Amino acid sequence: RMLCISSPAEMTQYVREQKKLGKTIGFIPTMGYLHEGHASLFAKAAESSDCVIASCFVNPTQFGERDDYVNYPKDQAHDIQLAEKSGIHALFLPSAETIYPNGEQITVKVNAKTNVLCGKSRPGHFDGVATVLTKLFTIIQPDHVYFGMKDAQQVAIVGSLITSFHFPIKLIACPIVREEDGLAKSSRNVRLSSQERAEAPELFKGLQSGLTKLKTGERDFAQVIETVETYYKTHLKLGIVDYVDVLNYPDLKRNAPVISGRVIIACAVRFDQARLIDNVTMDCE
Ligand code: PAJ
Repeated sequence: RMLCISSPAEMTQYVREQKKLGKTIGFIPTMGYLHEGHASLFAKAAESSDCVIASCFVNPTQFGERDDYVNYPKDQAHDIQLAEKSGIHALFLPSAETIYPNGEQITVKVNAKTNVLCGKSRPGHFDGVATVLTKLFTIIQPDHVYFGMKDAQQVAIVGSLITSFHFPIKLIACPIVREEDGLAKSSRNVRLSSQERAEAPELFKGLQSGLTKLKTGERDFAQVIETVETYYKTHLKLGIVDYVDVLNYPDLKRNAPVISGRVIIACAVRFDQARLIDNVTMDCE
């Protein structure tokens, strides 16, 4: 049976016992309101770790607008059910007061990879993510951590966090889980009106139009961006494009005047009550 733990000291003690039994620890941090995207990370973790721990914690310090934080969807009973069904061994459900015992007296600052994509439109967001993950990694001391490529910039920054602070942790990036119509699953999708929900699959279709350009040999960053932007201009009526960008991955730079190596095509689109993000990646010669 799955354990629900809310105290950091108890969680650290649980992990210590599991490690004494020779078990490897897999950890999946989440903000709850769990869906199949999260469940895919749980399943991946069950394959490669003996003891799987997930956390559900809506981290106040990574939100810009207070409204977005306060209105972030919650359903703890459903989360516990889905986690248990997914074979999670222990679920960490701490309060904000426990995770931030002296407010923000000490935090982590991210100084690279933040001036592009979501970092540009959400100042301080990745500082909040890095801060809470530093706390969670310290409490849980996992061997493996599992993150979704849905948040590709987050994966890139977590890689830097692990290297910078010498966390003895292996980072495992997992593919994006989508709805039948291509929309990337997200806790925020419930905030879309029915018309917005009907338009939302266009995000992925626009990215695919950029991918097609790459596949047919286009190697000019600007041309690929323009292809996606043009697609959105003609197909989005309600959504407002926040950004479309093409960057090398995972350093999130343009490493050459022409596209080469691993690249990401990423977008963010604002609807009335939800800002959606999506991306595709490709290895180019
Ligand atoms: P959250 O948005 O709940 O996402 C938790 C994890 O699930 C992230 O690694 C995210 O990339 C992954 N995920 C979400 N939707 C997915 C999908 N459709 N397919 C695959 N993976 C998906 O990301 C956060 O929480 C927070 O920033 C956190 C890391 C917990 C720090 O507070």
